[in-house]
Amino acid sequence: MKIFVVGGAGYIGSICVEEMLNTGHKITVFDNLAEGHRSAVDPRATFVHGDLGNHAELSAALKAAAPEAVMHFAAASLVPESMVNPSKYFRNNVANGINLLDAMVENGVKKIVFSGSCAIFGTPDRVPMTEDLPVRPLSPYGQSKTMVEQMLRWYDSIHGIQYVSLRYFNAAGASERFGEHHRRETHLIPNILAVALGKKDHVEIYGADYMTPDGTCVRDYIHISDLAQAHVLALKCRASTCYNLGSGDGYTVKQVVEACRKITAHPIPAIERPRRPGDPAKLVASSKKISLELGWKPRFNKLYDIVGSAWAWHKTHPDGYPD
Ligand code: UFG
Repeated sequence: MKIFVVGGAGYIGSICVEEMLNTGHKITVFDNLAEGHRSAVDPRATFVHGDLGNHAELSAALKAAAPEAVMHFAAASLVPESMVNPSKYFRNNVANGINLLDAMVENGVKKIVFSGSCAIFGTPDRVPMTEDLPVRPLSPYGQSKTMVEQMLRWYDSIHGIQYVSLRYFNAAGASERFGEHHRRETHLIPNILAVALGKKDHVEIYGADYMTPDGTCVRDYIHISDLAQAHVLALKCRASTCYNLGSGDGYTVKQVVEACRKITAHPIPAIERPRRPGDPAKLVASSKKISLELGWKPRFNKLYDIVGSAWAWHKTHPDGYPD
């Protein structure tokens, strides 16, 4: 298929592009490189430098690419940032999401795979989290992802755009070529590995008084290549739907720090700090629905495999991408 990938130069987008190219799809990446990196775009893809906020630019690129499907990775995605700058989240994620959907309508593109998030659920009543849980986001980030899912339903019923929303839990790890490089890093695993690389003295643990086995937050870390595989499968979906996407295993922040210590053989000092606003205590996916309906099967669901792949990439790219 010809696929137009918005945000294909970012961490998740770049590895999904690589996986789709490996399975024979033809890819155009559209990215403004605000968060992404030009060198993270697989050379087999066509690259268009453009901004989702610029409707004319976007529509022209979509027309030229004439894709059968769009994948939408271009969003602001930091829970803590959204708690102080909600405007950025509603503008980038919701307003620019409308631009993308309208450009699809104008150009007759009838399929979209959307990067959803488990942040739409807020604090869940139970884990593992199935798709039928109530949607109660705790942050503007989670709210923005909820709003786009709601828009997708209307664009489907009014314009016949079929959507698949993949609600990621915590994407982590790297492929052999591409990895996680945010210019301003807030994520747990890269922050811990930065200590092992000698770039930071210690890692901070945000909150050790949650109702969890060791008091720190539990998250479900999913290997980025497994997440990419789900995108390839989602292209085959014939009906609009949403899937939760995680490994099904929860690890506390302290367990992740410990795994990183073992893998890097570095003591990695950790300091406990107050809770970070917007963080739910425990998020663990049930990925039963996507496994049953699309045959998705994680290949790397052990935390050690995930951290090991991230460490391999960071060791060979200690300064991340050059651009
Ligand atoms: N944490 C620390 N220290 C750090 C960084 C993070 O203790 O230096 C903690 C956080 O408080 C949280 C956990 O580690 O409890 C994971 O935090 P991340 O920032 O790595 O990830 P989040 O769970 O906040 O968010 C990520 C993505 C979102 C996505 C979400 C789904 O950034 O886009 O996973 O859970 F929605």
